[in-house]
Amino acid sequence: MRLIIYTGKGGTGKTVNSCSTAIKLADLNNKTLIISSDPAHTLKDAFMTSVVGNKPVKVLDNLYALQIDPVLELAENYGSILSYVASIFSRRGLDETLSYEIAMLPGMTQLFSLLKIEEFIRHQDFDCIIMDMPASGEALRYLYFPKLAGNIGEKLSGFTGVFSGFVKMFQPFSSFAPIPTDVIQIEMNLLKRLELLSKTIIDPKITSLRLIINPDTFSIENAKRALMSANLYGINVDAVIINKIFPREVHNSYFTKWVEYQSTKIEEAKTSFYPLHIIEERFYEKELKGIEMLRENAEAIFNNEDPSRVFYSDKVFEFVKDGSILILKVKAPFTDKDNFDVNRYGDYLAIKILGATGYIVNVIPLPAATITMKLFEVKIHEGRIEVTFKE
Ligand SMILES: Nc1ncnc2c1ncn2[C@@H]1O[C@H](COP(=O)(O)OP(=O)(O)OP(=O)(O)O)[C@@H](O)[C@H]1O
Ligand SMILES: [Mg+2]
Repeated sequence: MRLIIYTGKGGTGKTVNSCSTAIKLADLNNKTLIISSDPAHTLKDAFMTSVVGNKPVKVLDNLYALQIDPVLELAENYGSILSYVASIFSRRGLDETLSYEIAMLPGMTQLFSLLKIEEFIRHQDFDCIIMDMPASGEALRYLYFPKLAGNIGEKLSGFTGVFSGFVKMFQPFSSFAPIPTDVIQIEMNLLKRLELLSKTIIDPKITSLRLIINPDTFSIENAKRALMSANLYGINVDAVIINKIFPREVHNSYFTKWVEYQSTKIEEAKTSFYPLHIIEERFYEKELKGIEMLRENAEAIFNNEDPSRVFYSDKVFEFVKDGSILILKVKAPFTDKDNFDVNRYGDYLAIKILGATGYIVNVIPLPAATITMKLFEVKIHEGRIEVTFKE
């Protein structure tokens, strides 16, 4: 089974490229499911059909679409836990509506969209699942939540035998509210599901995260952060799609400067995301939507390749922590010792590389762990730049 997740800044083309990928996979005879939890119901707009509902609905041969209702998922899977936690707060004198508001952890709705995927993984219903993530760097964070919650759950259940995870976290607030058995049941079940989801998401043979950018500074920066986080959490990023590239034909028009600007941004992206698989996608002459156009787009971006291929499966960044030392290893798009220069600016690292056309600067966001550290040493070793930070 393959799980392919598209993410990127708002409006970069996540939904349309998720749809194109899904269509091509289905055409290649994979039973495919495309999932979105976008409240704007964009799958419907992209496929230009009204079929997308709360259960997988057939769109084409081999292709099913599912529009998740996160609130419904949450109520079904988490309702009793939420009520219990809210009841603790309201017993302390908090207004009941407000209690629910506070008991609801941020990002919970996203988490329950992900849990829906777990069901399909468990039942092995599909060969390929494509997830169209809503726009925001935040949403990505909740992709990592299974790992976190899974770990907490394991630790807490080790301590207490029966109780674990979420509910236990809130127990200190209440010395007089015993945890109802159904809440414990639901919660244990939830942790088991999170664990499976987490294992699936960090398995590079199963899951690929793909970044969608446009040739502009904002979306590139957003994707760089996503790449760094994904590497930290062990999620494999295998490709970057640079979408909305103006064709050369617009030269000598209103868009002349845009074409030039975009080509510098494309170069920048290629350096920043080296050595990931880079796909370039042009800005079509009309809005990209409808099954036929999405299918043509899939042909253009994947050529004769199978979109379910793992395009890249090594780490772009690697962190080695050794006592008070943290070494950041970055794949370098060159091997020569003399033509690069590394500097730190706050929580960014700037790597200046002398290429054929002059200097290219690759700015890498640094992980929070380096905040209390100083840049100590820079080396190049086996095609990687090794930057050492010291406490
Ligand atoms: N290469 C392209 N050529 C023409 N139109 C495009 C192209 N890529 C995307 N579009 C159009 O841009 C708009 C935004 O695309 P899409 O909805 O896929 O972005 P998104 O990243 O999913 O947005 P959101 O962040 O809101 O979920 C749509 O109208 C889509 O048809
Ligand atoms: Mg979208």
